[in-house]
Amino acid sequence: MQGAEPGLGGGLIRFSRSRLRIIVTVGGAVFWGWDGAEPHPSYALAGSCPEPDPRAVLEPDKDGGWRVVAERVTIVISRHGAVEICTPGGVVLRRDLPPRWWEPVGGGAARWMQRSEVAADARFFGLGGRASGPRLRDGTYRLWNTDPGRAFGPGEDPLYLTMPVQLVVADAGTHLVFHDNTWDGAVVLREGVEGAGSGHDRAGHCAVRMDGGPLRCWVMVGTPARVLHLWASLTGAPALPPAWALGHHHARWGFGSEQEVRRIIAGYQERGLPLDAVHLDIDHYDDHQVFTVDQERFPKLPLLAEELRREGVRLVSIVDPAVRATPGNAVYDSGSAVDAFVRDASGRTVRGVVWAGESVFPDFTHARVRKWWGGLYEERLEQGFAGFWHDMNEPTSFNAFGEPTLPRSARHALEGRGGDHREAHNVYGLCMARAGYEGVRELSPQERPFLFSRSGWAGMQRYGGTWSGDVATGWPGLRASLSLVLGLGLCGVPYSGPDVGGFDGSPTPELYLRWFQLGSYLPLFRTHASLRAGRREPWEFGAEVLEHARAALLERRRLLPYFVTLAQLARRTGAPYVRPLWWGAPEDRALRDCEDAFLLGDGLLVAPVLDPGADRRAVQLPRGRWYDTVTEEAYEGPAQVLLDAPLSRTPVLARGGAVIPVRGARGGLELEVWAPARGRTGGGLVVADAGDGGEEPEIERFVARRQGRRVVVTREREDGPGESPYPVRVRGLD
Ligand code: NOJ
Repeated sequence: MQGAEPGLGGGLIRFSRSRLRIIVTVGGAVFWGWDGAEPHPSYALAGSCPEPDPRAVLEPDKDGGWRVVAERVTIVISRHGAVEICTPGGVVLRRDLPPRWWEPVGGGAARWMQRSEVAADARFFGLGGRASGPRLRDGTYRLWNTDPGRAFGPGEDPLYLTMPVQLVVADAGTHLVFHDNTWDGAVVLREGVEGAGSGHDRAGHCAVRMDGGPLRCWVMVGTPARVLHLWASLTGAPALPPAWALGHHHARWGFGSEQEVRRIIAGYQERGLPLDAVHLDIDHYDDHQVFTVDQERFPKLPLLAEELRREGVRLVSIVDPAVRATPGNAVYDSGSAVDAFVRDASGRTVRGVVWAGESVFPDFTHARVRKWWGGLYEERLEQGFAGFWHDMNEPTSFNAFGEPTLPRSARHALEGRGGDHREAHNVYGLCMARAGYEGVRELSPQERPFLFSRSGWAGMQRYGGTWSGDVATGWPGLRASLSLVLGLGLCGVPYSGPDVGGFDGSPTPELYLRWFQLGSYLPLFRTHASLRAGRREPWEFGAEVLEHARAALLERRRLLPYFVTLAQLARRTGAPYVRPLWWGAPEDRALRDCEDAFLLGDGLLVAPVLDPGADRRAVQLPRGRWYDTVTEEAYEGPAQVLLDAPLSRTPVLARGGAVIPVRGARGGLELEVWAPARGRTGGGLVVADAGDGGEEPEIERFVARRQGRRVVVTREREDGPGESPYPVRVRGLD
């Protein structure tokens, strides 16, 4: 270290061969960047860099180092360039060792490596969608969005959606680290070990290695809720799905025709099964070309869509980025006219092979191209589609270039800076989502865009959600699908869900039902499968499965107001709907290691059955009273309890005192209130929002108090408590 210059929110620290910029922002997020790296340009950030906190001061530290002292965090910089992130009380949450660079002799992108240490008891989560989580055990996690090309299980890494976002939970506190760098890279994790008896602790280790791009990082510390809130303020509030998107979706690759779509929908209706959306896969395209319709098999799509909409069912369209490279193909011609397609260094368009054959790929890192692409959704809206499912956007090309994507030398605009696919690859899906979202919003301003995308990156929640991709049919795939939803939620993407039943093959009736039951508590609840897979309609697995699937569908519909509330809260606070059990108690180590159950909002704990043949399962309960929502039996946490899990249902517990908005028998909103334990109060938030429009309804706060043998529920307002405007049903009273 050679010197330091204080600046707003921190300052610049000079070393003999590099320099380090530190900024603490008003909200408490910390930015550090080496070697001239600044917060911008960034694909992750939602807008301009948050304001620096003028109260954060840079001051000399012991041993010739410096430190930045802020309200909620202290950053200590050693004279060799190690950076420690500490709580205000001085406990170290993360120690970044001095980074290392490898600069190519001939110039060009420098590779770098950043090693860090965390507490011996720390657990790692996040890094985007990982099949082997949610707790990320020792191993190497690649940062390169990849279509594995086959149905995947827990062993597959990386998958379609990676992100350099880690959430680290330890006794001393929770922190989120984001290495804002879109290049190819990898994160090597090694959990620490606590020394038994008089033995030493071994710290947890993390090494981030990137093949180029800036060495810069954001760190947020606090409770999980605070960290996710800061993360959403930095990278953008999650898009609100329209209410119908929180219902049940049915998809299939290969519906084949309008008649088949009608048959399926009639199948749902005849059996009294709620259905909110049907997804059309690539087989409805004309010869696999995006933004077209096969007129022979789908001759009257707008009419069908209109009819379905009247019955409460929306149509969702798959949208693939690849465009068949044939003059005369309207999408190709209009794209060529605006010079939309990715070129190589010699100026030729890069050709890959996807479903439509030889194809070109829009360069979504160019504003002009996004604008053109966004306009193409007009054709989809005219066909009657209400939502969009972005696929194959890692981007995938079938092994044309040694790996299933574009060649690394392919050129991209990168918003005018210019660069190649090494830098643009990981944000291809993110930029496509932006193009689609902005296009639809402009074309149809009165409705909320509904979009979910297979690939993406940090910040994609601004445009929509994702799904788990082609998860392999089997019990390990069921587990992987929960891991993905939990991990993505901790990276700021709250809306996702799996292909219920798995993508390939044929699940046994039991596996199908357990998957269906899990899916019914996840934000995106969708049945889907491959062209060659067995059927996935709930009536294809026998009478017993049908009956239990119906119960799951009806319960999902009953819980719709709760899901709507969770979507609104995710938008306003960044908290995912689906949260790990430790969300409110990260210091509880037993909860930290619990990966097979989750909290749905504040009120419910869902313990899905993830093993064959099980009719009971153990659940680790967080502190407080919990009621089995079917038997109303009360349990006191922290404890491990054994719950009945017959085929007919997923064990779900409600927190004592929880106020849960549900749909009453006549369709109106009602409050289901779970009695607080004696001497305790409870409560909950409700956002009543039936709409699909962009309005921001108010958050209503309810409090539940025990008065002798009664429970009184009030709505709290600025002018004091008042009666609940909704009917209240109290449950769990002894
Ligand atoms: C791959 C997607 O992951 C899958 O969901 C879809 O059915 C196929 N592509 C065909 O479009």
